[in-house]
Amino acid sequence: MKDLQFKRHRRLRRTDSMRALVRETHLRTEDLIYPIFVVEGEDIKNPVASMPGVHQVSLDHLNEEMDELVRLDIKSVIVFGVPAEKDDVGSQAYHEEGIVQRAIRQIKEGFPSLTVIADTCLCQYTDHGHCGIVRDGDIVNDESLTYITKTAITQAEAGADIIAPSNMMDGFVAAIREGLDEAGFSHIPVMSYAVKYASSFYGPFRDAAHSSPQFGDRRAYQMDPANRLEALREAVSDVEEGADFLIVKPALAYLDIMREVKDRFNLPLVAYNVSGEYSMIKAAAQNGWVNEEEIVLEKLTSMKRAGADLIITYFAKDAARWLNQ
Ligand code: PBG
Repeated sequence: MKDLQFKRHRRLRRTDSMRALVRETHLRTEDLIYPIFVVEGEDIKNPVASMPGVHQVSLDHLNEEMDELVRLDIKSVIVFGVPAEKDDVGSQAYHEEGIVQRAIRQIKEGFPSLTVIADTCLCQYTDHGHCGIVRDGDIVNDESLTYITKTAITQAEAGADIIAPSNMMDGFVAAIREGLDEAGFSHIPVMSYAVKYASSFYGPFRDAAHSSPQFGDRRAYQMDPANRLEALREAVSDVEEGADFLIVKPALAYLDIMREVKDRFNLPLVAYNVSGEYSMIKAAAQNGWVNEEEIVLEKLTSMKRAGADLIITYFAKDAARWLNQ
């Protein structure tokens, strides 16, 4: 034993305070972005069956939700609209009195200190459920940009602090940037869903947002989960087109991609901890199979360790509660 040569890593793990001293990654409530689903109508607080703890709320219940976020020290929210009416071009997405535009106005009026992020997509608003305009069964790129840009501008007019386009059409950052600048919103940043995979982890969200495609799937615009270089190409073009933040989505199965994007680009990086990742843990926790608090904080910390600066997560309120304890 006397001549045995080895390193004693355990010296730094002996006590709680020693472990705190050498901890490399910290999760803060400021890192968390809470997604909210706003629905038309009155007195609605509709639980999403596949996402325990998540509700669709009508505007008359929105302030309660925002009060809770402020109490928990969460500083930002991303807004998804569930419109009453859909049509082939998603006109409720860019209507001045659309559900999202009204929600944004209401939040900014009551809670000016919250950062309001608008998800900019058409899929909740189109009757075919695709993220762009459909012509002869194809999701056409350039025509879709016109509608997406209109949507971004009306969201900025309503008071959105950040525009977050998630539609995966080519050129959406360039088009939105130009549209915002021309409309007098050169100060409004674009948080691009730069790297978005065609993922089965979005299943529960499509229940919550009523946004499932009515024919086909999204694989002609969202990315193949098998691809890594393609993710870097997507990120390069969004950076060149003027994105201010980059999102990688989903998060948990794509931590490798997050690390590479973080190492290559010096923009704030956002992890989208998506609906399926939430539902899986909720289901296991409800069965008593995992310790929810520990597993949630572990996975959110892993996302930060992988390079994420911010995390969009349905766990934001739970995590803030645990962090504040
Ligand atoms: C809209 C959009 C989706 C999500 C966020 N924005 C769904 C999709 O692309 O089908 C998914 C979020 C989640 O699963 O939590 N394009």
